[in-house]
Amino acid sequence: MKTIILTVKVLLGSLLFSSLSLAAGGGYPLDRAEVDPTDKASLQRGVRYFQNYCAGCHSTGYQRYERVADDLGIPHDLMMDNLVFDKTAKIGNLMHNSMDPAEAKAWFGVTPPDLTLVSRVRGGPDWLYTYLRTFYEDPSRPYGVNNKVFPDVGMPHALLELQGIQIDTCQDTSPNERDPLTGEKVCGLSVDPQRKGSMTPAEFDQMVYDLVNFLAYSAEPIREQRKRLGIYVFLFLAVFLVFAYLLKREYWKDVYPQSRDNPPTA
Ligand code: HEC
Repeated sequence: MKTIILTVKVLLGSLLFSSLSLAAGGGYPLDRAEVDPTDKASLQRGVRYFQNYCAGCHSTGYQRYERVADDLGIPHDLMMDNLVFDKTAKIGNLMHNSMDPAEAKAWFGVTPPDLTLVSRVRGGPDWLYTYLRTFYEDPSRPYGVNNKVFPDVGMPHALLELQGIQIDTCQDTSPNERDPLTGEKVCGLSVDPQRKGSMTPAEFDQMVYDLVNFLAYSAEPIREQRKRLGIYVFLFLAVFLVFAYLLKREYWKDVYPQSRDNPPTA
């Protein structure tokens, strides 16, 4: 018994440790993204951003346009006209992009991975949300940008025109960057005022949230259905318990006729 308890403890401990170390994202603190699969408007915006800014390089090839349209409440004709750019594709097709993987590898050094399940790997939605918002200028990299949670990433800053270019002010040595009270350096990522994007930082955060919400939905489209089903299962078990108890009483009556339930009559 002791060994079993010990094994369970070790297993739980290593699980916890691995998820913590994943969530750490290379030491950079992750921002929270409370995804909400019931927020259809956010998911619809999310798929639109994904198709416009990401699908050129990445597939979400384990799901179909039709399922996404139905789940998100998008009419099929609107989906085909506005969100499916491969004009040979049909609504029932898997959401593959038309980039040749070998060419992509030559261009980027790595083939852009499929993103259907990406919100379940690494640090989950929080990691994604932080990753997409922490590209910053770094002239030593091939695309001129680096990333805080994915150092030396091979992906260009796909949302540059929306966010603008961020600078890491921690590398800046100007004396004005100190907190007047503590004297500590106040620094982090901030958008260069000379090279702003078309969105304000708040709009950009909302946009990335919608994108992450959509990718979290992709990774588990039946999340809402699963929860609903869970409630039915518990209700069923509660009703079943009554009958199971009555049946048990009936059976044990024959085994121990004089049990507490059937006290001697004479
Ligand atoms: C120009 C092509 C291109 C575009 C556009 C692009 N990506 Fe990427 N992306 C890449 C490449 C290449 C990698 C692989 C980077 C590496 O492994 O170093 C990558 C990696 C990623 C990863 C890391 C996956 C992992 O776990 O290794 C995520 C997440 C991601 N992209 C999300 C997005 C999202 C969301 C968008 C749309 C806003 C997007 N990408 C747009 C090329 C692109």
